[in-house]
Amino acid sequence: TQTYMRFPEGFLWGGATAANQMEGGFHEGSKGLNIADVLPGGKKRLTILQEPGFNFEIDKDKYSYPNHEGIDFYNRYKEDIALFAEMGFKVFRMSIAWTRIFPNGDEQEPNEFGLAFYDRVFDELHNHGIEPVVTISHYEMPVNLVKEYGGWRSREVVTFFERYVNAIFNRYKNKVKYWMTFNEINSGLIMPIMGLGFSIQKEEDKYQPTFQAFHHQFVASSIAVKACHEIIPNAQIGCMIIYAPVYSYDSNPENVMYALQEERLFNHFCADVQVRGEYPAFIKRYFKEHNIKLDIQEGDLELIKEHTVDYIGFSYYMSRTEKKEKTELEKSQGNIMSGVKNPFLEASDWGWEIDPIGLRISLNKLYDRYQVPLFVVENGLGAYDKVEEDGSINDDYRIDYLREHIKAMREAIEDGVELMGYTSWGCIDLVSASTGEFSKRYGFIYVDKYDDGSGTLERKRKKSFFWYKDVISTNGENL
Ligand code: BG6
Repeated sequence: TQTYMRFPEGFLWGGATAANQMEGGFHEGSKGLNIADVLPGGKKRLTILQEPGFNFEIDKDKYSYPNHEGIDFYNRYKEDIALFAEMGFKVFRMSIAWTRIFPNGDEQEPNEFGLAFYDRVFDELHNHGIEPVVTISHYEMPVNLVKEYGGWRSREVVTFFERYVNAIFNRYKNKVKYWMTFNEINSGLIMPIMGLGFSIQKEEDKYQPTFQAFHHQFVASSIAVKACHEIIPNAQIGCMIIYAPVYSYDSNPENVMYALQEERLFNHFCADVQVRGEYPAFIKRYFKEHNIKLDIQEGDLELIKEHTVDYIGFSYYMSRTEKKEKTELEKSQGNIMSGVKNPFLEASDWGWEIDPIGLRISLNKLYDRYQVPLFVVENGLGAYDKVEEDGSINDDYRIDYLREHIKAMREAIEDGVELMGYTSWGCIDLVSASTGEFSKRYGFIYVDKYDDGSGTLERKRKKSFFWYKDVISTNGENL
């Protein structure tokens, strides 16, 4: 253990999860089906959408669906929260499954069973002195809204979302003071199904529906911000983006310009609207070149301008290196975006390039541009873990990854960045979002559950559990 400077008083240490990747109980409490429920486990998870005839239905003869049972947080939340408390969590990031509250998305009244479930979870967190940080929509759109309305393409979905946020803000106004609207909202640029609720068959057809859907989400986000501030005056509500700083592959100005354009579009477009309250200047040219004409209703732009978010939550796993012309061989892998391989970086077993300095760069870039508080709400290493004969799990690789990223945050704070907290991803092992598997583990807590469906669901503390506990209790001094 080395000693470093402490983090600011009140720094929000914790861990992050999403309902669809851990709760299980996918039918319990009258929950409706959401997108994640109909995506199978395995490598086909995201490409299945491109298959002709895929109709958002469950087909158990052909596929397995690991997140239907998840890690059974739905029934085991007390045990899990006690373990988070043992590590000293100040906050726990989780999401509310929209389909527990409005099973089909378009009902008039919320579902009491669903509301009561999150009451129990929030109360349990508070019993342990942990504040919830709640994502309102984390890749969990009701399937009914996808099938009947075309997801966020439809303006009507804004009204349903408004009903949903009003229900949860009113119900949990005394229990939740940190909120986020749409998880990784910018992921819709590459993979519209998870966040925007529709799939696109041909590249050239994507522009108009994608940006119209974004406009609806921006309006919905401002409606949520307004309602949150009115109903829970002491709350803070943020946006949530994937951030992967884009490096130019070399000093060829063609590549530098290309990297800049990719960075602005992917990393900044959504945050520009949600934080600054305006469509950025660069997007006008992009709209023109791709023949995008937004249907903007009266009052939309004023609403967006007036109700901007209080902070930026973001996920950071990797940086991205870009080159204007790239061959298949040069390509790198990543969560949803890929650039070219960076010769200076090593990658995880899933090909995600590990770049702690990239986190310091990201924090600086975001703060330079927006000057609002930042919150690292996801970061972590997906890895294969091994349980030794004596039951121990020695995940030193995970400790190394997290340590280097925490050091990078420390540096960024020294650089002047205002950083609220850090919730590492998948603090307890859960189902991965992109491949729907259990073998890709992120947790401090091991869950005895495997891709073939076997496992007792028993929880075990990994080596990183004790390490993180020490990090929190010394406020980042012992790394
Ligand atoms: C983020 C998502 O993109 O990355 C999470 O918000 C996800 O839901 C995480 O789990 C890690 O990705 P994966 O595919 O390894 O689970």
